Amino acid sequence: RAFLYRLWKGNVSSKMLNPRLQKAMRDYLAANKHGVRFRGPRAARRSRAQLLCELRRRAQVRTLDGTEAPFAALGWRRLVPAVPLSQLHPRGLRTCAVVMSAGAILNSSLGEEIDSHDAVLRFNSAPTRGYEKDVGNRTTMRIINSQWYKKPDYNLFTPYIQHRQRNPNQPFYILHPKFIWQLWDIIQENTKEKIQPNPPSSGFIGILIMMSLCREVHVYEYIPSIRQTELCHYHELYYDAACTLGAYHPLLYEKLLVQRLNMGTQGDLHRKGKVVLPGFQAVQC
Ligand code: C5P
Repeated sequence: RAFLYRLWKGNVSSKMLNPRLQKAMRDYLAANKHGVRFRGPRAARRSRAQLLCELRRRAQVRTLDGTEAPFAALGWRRLVPAVPLSQLHPRGLRTCAVVMSAGAILNSSLGEEIDSHDAVLRFNSAPTRGYEKDVGNRTTMRIINSQWYKKPDYNLFTPYIQHRQRNPNQPFYILHPKFIWQLWDIIQENTKEKIQPNPPSSGFIGILIMMSLCREVHVYEYIPSIRQTELCHYHELYYDAACTLGAYHPLLYEKLLVQRLNMGTQGDLHRKGKVVLPGFQAVQC
């Protein structure tokens, strides 16, 4: 619990994680499987307002549009949705919910509040049926990672092509790796410790996508509430602290950054696991 109280205040370091998670982090740093090099400055102590402006300026959502190699030559310009993600809601969305799949959302009774937003983002195969009281039943968007998308971690292109052909009217995008790694840079620049050299979690990516589409973003059970346990997902009996605190993903550092941006109340954070963030349209720079 002491760890949780410190996380709510933004006052934790990886040294406070259990030894297994610390070792996993060290191993990922040593392996550096994506060959990440970071030359930028670290831990510039930016204010909340400065951070928001930095994010608005640099965290512009990008998806594959089929104009770049090798996709252009493969006819992807006609394969990707004609309407870009940024134009899907041309008049913008007012408030949006980002619903993490964490076990801590069980018994939250947040369903009604979640469904009251203009749009609801969920992740991977997270179900609503049978969990409506806690997670709601509306889903406007999903972020699917390439592990979930028909299994293979690497070959996501063939299933993407098939899915586009079978569901041409469903706006379904592949995020551009430049967007993902730009987010990684921003996390590292604003963190004193060396973060894992692996992509940010889909939770963090989803939060930033919604900040670009909505005037206000309500994030549920990303920074854990008082209900926190090691239950990884609300829909699965599997326990692992890494799901909430990270091993592969720089999840702890993402959460510390999001904690700094929170404009919601401490009560909502503790009881609902809720963080409130302004959308980029609502940020004055
Ligand atoms: O596990 P999955 O990738 O489907 O979860 C989606 C996102 O929710 C993760 O990328 C992570 O950011 C967040 N999450 C979390 N704590 C958990 C489970 C998921 O913060 N216990």
